[in-house]
Amino acid sequence: MEVIAGVKQMQERSQQLRAQRETIAFVPTMGYLHEGHLSLMREGRKRADALIISIFVNPTQFGPGEDYERYPRDMKRDLQLAQGVGVDIVFTPSVQEMYPQGFQTYVEVEKVTKNLCGISRPHHFRGVTTVVTKLFNIVKPHLALFGQKDYQQLVTIKRMVEDLNMDIEIIGLPTVREPDGLAMSSRNAYLSPEERRAALSLYRSLCKGEELFRQGTKDAKAILREIRKIIKAQKLAQIDYAKICDPHTLEDIDEIEGEALIALAVKIGETRLIDNVILREG
Ligand code: PAF
Repeated sequence: MEVIAGVKQMQERSQQLRAQRETIAFVPTMGYLHEGHLSLMREGRKRADALIISIFVNPTQFGPGEDYERYPRDMKRDLQLAQGVGVDIVFTPSVQEMYPQGFQTYVEVEKVTKNLCGISRPHHFRGVTTVVTKLFNIVKPHLALFGQKDYQQLVTIKRMVEDLNMDIEIIGLPTVREPDGLAMSSRNAYLSPEERRAALSLYRSLCKGEELFRQGTKDAKAILREIRKIIKAQKLAQIDYAKICDPHTLEDIDEIEGEALIALAVKIGETRLIDNVILREG
């Protein structure tokens, strides 16, 4: 497995792979890898000749007072895990390399970034789309894989790729969960045992939402009332949002017709967690 830190070197290496007619699958990450990331890598491994991942904690997607400084990092462990799933190249740029002096260009997707996480994290998606565009330009993948846990991010990136005619296939894969249902996230590392127990309320409330929908409840308010009740029963939990949206536009809906997204962001102590489920009729 190769580890490349320089932008120029990475671009040249990808160019070389393309010249050899090798297809490139790409999994961008912020490191502290877990089974969710590894499932994306395994799928990428199957779908292309070369598998490249990036490990870069991107400062532009964190707001002031968020956890950029203390975001968990463990490069040695990450490299071992990447090697274990057959990654060919790990791109590990520095902040200096990605955002040199004078940097001033950003990519912004307008509508789908406004609701949900866009309300309390207004600059987050601009940071994500900017860094992902840069990574795409450096790694030059044919396809890139993202987890559905970050559902709004996935919709945003698909929109960006379509709108900007990027010749890259975007693949979204299901959320990977712990055996008790907690969605895997690098931020789970922040949780104390008591917080870890309280965090299960996200998954439990989503299951309740699904159950109500299966039993015929289409009224979003009625479903959200039950979801909020389950989360609020945990004294360590504070709801940022609990919403039911159109899964394509991400606009709030009152009545579920066909399909819908239930999306949650909840602070457990100091840790903000997100999770979601798609409801589909039939
Ligand atoms: O999902 C993430 O880990 C990040 O938002 C991404 C896509 C790697 C961009 O920094």
